[in-house]
Amino acid sequence: MDSIFILTGAGISAESGLGTFRDKDGLWTRYDLSRVATPEGFRADPALVHDFYNMRRKNCLDAAPNAAHAALARLGRDHPGEVTLVTQNVDDLHERAGSTGVIHMHGELRRALCAACGHRWPAPERMRSEDACPSCGRPATRPDIVWFGEMPYRMDEILERLARATLFVVIGSSGEVYPAAGFVDEAAAQGIPTLEINLEPSGRRGLFDRGLYGPATEVVPRWVAGLLRD
Ligand code: NAD
Ligand code: APR
Repeated sequence: MDSIFILTGAGISAESGLGTFRDKDGLWTRYDLSRVATPEGFRADPALVHDFYNMRRKNCLDAAPNAAHAALARLGRDHPGEVTLVTQNVDDLHERAGSTGVIHMHGELRRALCAACGHRWPAPERMRSEDACPSCGRPATRPDIVWFGEMPYRMDEILERLARATLFVVIGSSGEVYPAAGFVDEAAAQGIPTLEINLEPSGRRGLFDRGLYGPATEVVPRWVAGLLRD
């Protein structure tokens, strides 16, 4: 197996009990995205945003990785250096399943970020803006989450790895948010085979060479077992 580039979305964590964003009872049907996931929303009401991410952080701590996370961890362990795992998710279920080197392009719930000096540190259970940054001491603490309108992390590295891939796979994403949603176009333009694994065909199904559909905890372990047999 040469080099597999895997992008995961909220769907891979759905069966761990963490909500998705755009399914019928998704987070964005219950919270006003513009108030809790944009820099403007944070400026207007930081306490509301901290409450939102403190709630999500607690849900994440209460959740456990599922068989899909475990299968990807096994794939990475059996093929060191041949699997790039990029996630749009801000939970740490990939790491708790055993995956290493995970690229969190939208940030991580388990980290705090100083808006003044850029220092990062492990997030406290209940984060507040007035918490002093351990490095510069200023009360400029924010969740280390990439909000709408902000640039995702490590994009240069992501695109370099994508260009070298021999297979591009998306697992559990609706393909609604750019630039992640555009990775399949990049892969297809470079002649890289593409595979969508999702509960049901996403709106971007037509851009993939192949699709495997069903709950991630059933489809992903079966797909990984097939790879490990080959
Ligand atoms: P976008 O193109 O997905 O959305 C465009 C605008 O529409 C955004 O400003 C957003 O606030 C708004 N919007 C999208 N879906 C909405 C909904 N369901 N209800 C209300 N408003 C909605 O996002 P964008 O503004 O072009 O920003 C894309 C950048 O933001 C990318 O870098 C992406 O990685 C990052 N991002 C991060 C998160 C996160 O929560 N971590 C979420 C989405 C995007
Ligand atoms: N197994 C596999 N796929 C599933 C499952 C499951 N059990 N349950 C849901 N899905 C699929 C849905 O069909 C949907 O296509 O997961 C996808 C979830 O899509 P979204 O809720 O849009 O989540 P995602 O694509 O990760 O959103 C991208 O938007 O708001 C931002 O930062 C947020 O990173 C997120 C980004």
